Amino acid sequence: MQQSNRKPTMSSDFIPFHKPAIGEEEIRSVVETLKSGWLTTGPKVKTLEAEFASYIGCSHAVAVNSGTAALHLALEAVGIKSGDEVIVPTMTFTATAEVVLYLGARPVLVDCSTDDLNIDVDRVEAAISSRTKAIIPVHIAGRPCAMDEILAIARRHGLQVIEDAAHALPASYHGRKIGSIGDITCFSFYATKTMTTGEGGMATTENPDWAKRMRMMSLHGISHDAWNRYTKEGSWYYEVISPGFKYNLTDLAAALGIEQLKKCDQFYEARRQIAHRYDEAFRDVPGIQIPASAANVQHAWHLYIIELELEQLRIGRPAFIEALNHHNVGTSVHFIPLHLHPFYRDKFGYKPEDFPGAGKVFPRIISLPIYPGMTEANVDDVITAVLQITKEHRR
Ligand SMILES: Cc1ncc(COP(=O)(O)O)c(C=O)c1O
Repeated sequence: MQQSNRKPTMSSDFIPFHKPAIGEEEIRSVVETLKSGWLTTGPKVKTLEAEFASYIGCSHAVAVNSGTAALHLALEAVGIKSGDEVIVPTMTFTATAEVVLYLGARPVLVDCSTDDLNIDVDRVEAAISSRTKAIIPVHIAGRPCAMDEILAIARRHGLQVIEDAAHALPASYHGRKIGSIGDITCFSFYATKTMTTGEGGMATTENPDWAKRMRMMSLHGISHDAWNRYTKEGSWYYEVISPGFKYNLTDLAAALGIEQLKKCDQFYEARRQIAHRYDEAFRDVPGIQIPASAANVQHAWHLYIIELELEQLRIGRPAFIEALNHHNVGTSVHFIPLHLHPFYRDKFGYKPEDFPGAGKVFPRIISLPIYPGMTEANVDDVITAVLQITKEHRR
């Protein structure tokens, strides 16, 4: 968090929901790569993969051009096929479920816990059928799911666990970094994420066969990547093993990512401090519920999601967001549960009452700004705005 001597008042400048933290190091690195003549997948991607694997403490890291691509490749690598079923929480972004559909499989939605918005572990087993092949836990906001319980269910039923860790860098569960626990873990480097390459993603795993398959399928399913094919020591010869995808990360993006990864812990510390300020300010405020604390995990604090205690307020979430906007505070909502979207509702016949947990929390959640570029005055302004609106509209 940047220092400021300003007194807390209503913000005069709009505080956006998110601003990426791009410094001179990132700019220099991208410019150097532009000048190097090597723009697409090459040495920078290799470096980012090696440094990411070392940071997470995993054996393999495969860089791709989005978190969605990482999820798709992960499911393909573990063998998800047409007719299979994959357990997906309803409280997530559509990417988590759409990749299941890419492979002709069916996403089977499971409700969220009203405590932490993560998949309700107690409801997972009831959703498993003879066709189920995998579970995709999503670490919502960066707070790790109950991985011991999820892995135990998966092992009992012979399922793979593909973690959607789009929000969970850096997060840890019982002392282990997210990215080193499930069968394959997928990260996103989208512009709003805790580290960014503009667009990008990474899949981590301990399994060399899956890593090899994802790497190959990320570049048309051919036997060598561009690095091997076009450098002097590389060969012109290649073989198409499978009709793959065009999911490779560029060196331009990786040049940005290498510098972002170096700052990952520093960025985390800034977000943790903001989360702590919000916790302290809102903890005992009637009308506002802060994120529940959890023992033995590190929350990445990609998002800070408050819940409105609607029974105590005279306004609903849309009016609250509008009032925050009026106070120059940008917000977002994570997420509109999948079963409420026309596609998932119509295709699979889901009804709102099928997911009471998500139904309860969805109308209450608001994501507040939380990113390293926020000044202390910005944080003060967000707190002041939330407190004022809550006070004005309390029953
Ligand atoms: C939970 C979740 N999963 C997956 C994705 C997809 O990531 P990407 O945008 O990098 O494809 C996102 C984000 O944008 C997300 O929030």
